[in-house]
Amino acid sequence: MFLRNYWYVAAMPPELDGGALLGRWILGEPVLLYRTEDGAVTAMKDICPHRSARLSAGERDGDRVRCLYHGLEFGPDGSCLRIPAQDAAPPEGLRVAGYPVAEKWRLIWVWMGAPEDADEALIPDFHWNDDPDWYPVGDYMHLDCHYQLLADNLMDLSHEAYVHRGTIGTDAVSETPAIASRDGDHVIVERIMPGCPAPPFYQKLKGYDGPIDRMHRIHFDPPATIMIESKSSPSGSNDPDDGLEYRVLCAITPETDDTTHFFWAVPRNFNPEEPVTEMMYQGSKAVFEEDIDVLNRQQEVLDKVEGAADWQNIQSDAGAVYARRVVEVLLAKEAG
Ligand SMILES: [Fe+2]
Repeated sequence: MFLRNYWYVAAMPPELDGGALLGRWILGEPVLLYRTEDGAVTAMKDICPHRSARLSAGERDGDRVRCLYHGLEFGPDGSCLRIPAQDAAPPEGLRVAGYPVAEKWRLIWVWMGAPEDADEALIPDFHWNDDPDWYPVGDYMHLDCHYQLLADNLMDLSHEAYVHRGTIGTDAVSETPAIASRDGDHVIVERIMPGCPAPPFYQKLKGYDGPIDRMHRIHFDPPATIMIESKSSPSGSNDPDDGLEYRVLCAITPETDDTTHFFWAVPRNFNPEEPVTEMMYQGSKAVFEEDIDVLNRQQEVLDKVEGAADWQNIQSDAGAVYARRVVEVLLAKEAG
């Protein structure tokens, strides 16, 4: 059960370099993505309508894709252009359905709902990932868990104090209550932490040696787009040069019922140069790997232990619970 009338991130642009035929399961459907010779991205079902071979295992001939099972050739619009040893026109049904696709904020998005409803204005605002005043790092990761476990994780950062103790976590994060609020389908969780110790990663990045004022503001939009504002500065400092501010952009795309694609980016507005870029990339990646380790094991328990999903909520779950309710209501709406 997935929300369909939304843009989902399907790939990072470099994944389509070199004429690649990228096959990726999205919402339980195999999708083929590639870049045509004019530079546009095309997306269609990754299934040959003849005998269901994966087209991504085929080969390109210019903008055509040749299925390497029986050699049928398809154009980027999904129409069948050639059947070996057959001069008669292809049967009516021998075409591949396409998906609306857009390239924005240095990401490739597909619309999984009714094509006529695809409106690029609905693509989530990730402009920090494509803005001269922000310096992004980012990557793709794969998780063996339901996509909402990752959304839950990002909506409740109190886990930083335990899961990310050696990098970005301090007790101030877990011991300071967060305020969750809801505005329509948008959920916000805010945590203000004045005069707290700097976590190890921040000490390394900015040389903070005293207390800092720290703030997290998490924004959720369905199905699972999360943007985190993170700001810190030495306690009481008004000097913007002392500040450490970044965004955590999280595009969560269900692959199947219990596996997930995670496209993340962490644009910052300080120290554009090396070695800070590499530190931000490696630091962020290490933090997400710590999360993934917890989440994959959590899924294993949910799969194998009856009743394990009968969770008990505590106060800090408010944001995650709101987010799940938003999705639940929208799923019911889409189901009519
Ligand atoms: Fe985390």
